[in-house]
Amino acid sequence: MVLLDGKKTAQDIQLEIAEKVKCLKADGKKTPHLAAILVGGDGASLTYVNAKVKACEKVGFESTLVHIDATTSEEDLLNKIDELNNDDAIDGFIVQLPLPKHIDEAKVTLAVSPRKDVDGFHPENIGKMCLNLPTFLPATPNGVLEMLKRYNIETSGKHCVVIGRSHIVGSPMSILMARNGNPGNATVTLTHSRTSNLKEICATADILIAAVGRPLFVTADMVKEGAVVVDVGIHRVEDSSKKSGFKLIGDVDFANVSEKCSHISPVPGGVGPMTIASLMMNTLSAIELK
Ligand code: GUN
Repeated sequence: MVLLDGKKTAQDIQLEIAEKVKCLKADGKKTPHLAAILVGGDGASLTYVNAKVKACEKVGFESTLVHIDATTSEEDLLNKIDELNNDDAIDGFIVQLPLPKHIDEAKVTLAVSPRKDVDGFHPENIGKMCLNLPTFLPATPNGVLEMLKRYNIETSGKHCVVIGRSHIVGSPMSILMARNGNPGNATVTLTHSRTSNLKEICATADILIAAVGRPLFVTADMVKEGAVVVDVGIHRVEDSSKKSGFKLIGDVDFANVSEKCSHISPVPGGVGPMTIASLMMNTLSAIELK
């Protein structure tokens, strides 16, 4: 079994980006600048946003964290987005999700200028992704693709089963795996909570991508011998032996599934760091697209 080491792969990507940033600076070009808006923020969102800011430092980007109160009105948030849309110093920005219940996520996604939408969530960028036109690709699915590419995993003609149809992971993941490209050219089945015979379908997957959002959902009986398993899930569960009081687990029952598959991404240290590396790639391309 080969471990799909997202931590190491993300470090490699970040070193490559750091080299490119050095060249930009040496040529007197602008240093890429990423901003992140965090509204309120439970512990997990704050951790993710801080990790994104830290990654900016590592690759030599400038970064701005806009941390606003959970009680902020939708209008105030939209005004802040407009400010960033019109700020020439900022090359790209993200609004960390989820948002408080009183704010309409769809409205927020639409408000971000497609040119600065380094999350790749704007409908214009999603449309371009579907049409295989150059654009910002959503960070998590693109991180998964980059991981498959760097581990030389053949996807062409393979049966890829994606579990979960979320707008930010499952749906774009299924489109990217089916697109004409490398990685890509897979025969994709997108499964979700209403899928009949889920276990049986998963057990036919050459590549199984779990983005279901339920801890340890994928058990060994759902996995074909020799399959490639990618775990997009991340869940905090209590663990009194840890200083933080919790540990992280994924959507996949790693201990049992890893005995059956050819490749598997761990949690933590799999898709999570790749998502951040992918965001850095998008921010760099925001400069290059200018
Ligand atoms: N919340 C969980 N994943 C993401 C992501 O990729 N981008 C943003 N903005 N929020 C998230």
